[in-house]
Amino acid sequence: MPLDKKITIAELLRRKKAGEKFAMLTSYDATTAHWQEQAGVESLLVGDSMGNVILGQDSTVGVSLDLSVTLTAAVRRGAPHVYLVGDMPFLSYHADDPGLAIAHAGRYLVEAQADAVKLEVDARHVELVAAMSAAGIPVMAHLGLSPQRVAQMGGMRVHARTAASAAELVETAQRMEQAGAVAVLIEATPPEPARLVTERLAVPVIGCGAGPFCDGFVLIVHDILGLTPGHTPQFAQRYVDLSATMTEAFRAYVADVHGGGYPATGHNYAMREGQAEQLDDWARGQS
Ligand code: KIV
Repeated sequence: MPLDKKITIAELLRRKKAGEKFAMLTSYDATTAHWQEQAGVESLLVGDSMGNVILGQDSTVGVSLDLSVTLTAAVRRGAPHVYLVGDMPFLSYHADDPGLAIAHAGRYLVEAQADAVKLEVDARHVELVAAMSAAGIPVMAHLGLSPQRVAQMGGMRVHARTAASAAELVETAQRMEQAGAVAVLIEATPPEPARLVTERLAVPVIGCGAGPFCDGFVLIVHDILGLTPGHTPQFAQRYVDLSATMTEAFRAYVADVHGGGYPATGHNYAMREGQAEQLDDWARGQS
């Protein structure tokens, strides 16, 4: 069902309390966002995964704030009703510089009409989240795997696999909620810690490879459409193989162009009545 009313944080909270799960997908352009909203996707994330799937880079760290804000605004134009989250890129927020983070986050709300911003955080960012929240910025705290720190970590890895690290994740999530975060996103953890976080927090908890117990779930749109070339994570369910459909369409177009099948008569604009003959006369007079 297409969304017929604006999804707010209050609506996501209502769904959490009612035990109704909600769907989030990444989105990076107005056209895709339009169809996602038509399909009833409640929330869209303009993820810094655009570094990988849009820019073709190896990681997310090359995404600029300007590009991220521009594409967030595009997604909002395509999907006016979704709960829209802008993903603050690498180095656009610092644990020790709330002023800069607030100014950058404000661009998502003012220029792109986003509902919230997402930050990859750990316990060092509690005060930053508190300062941003106090300034009126709705913050989604992204815990667990932090793709922006992949070079520091030496690769993507599952988080919170030990009791100690899982307990630390649960405590950090609780501190983020106390600091004012409006939602939490957990990436790449076993289900157990994500379940504890979902049960303990009043705010919505969104899982990305964090098991079945979260209030909502997010996936990368290219993964679910079967468009990602190469490796995808084990939780990235593919719903269709658009890569095959697209490649087939591109091949058919190339074959038509090479073979003269395109453009066909029906693709041509007609000249006004009698004008083609006049043009012929004029061309003959020239030769
Ligand atoms: O950038 C992104 O798309 C994300 C999701 C994977 C949660 O952060």
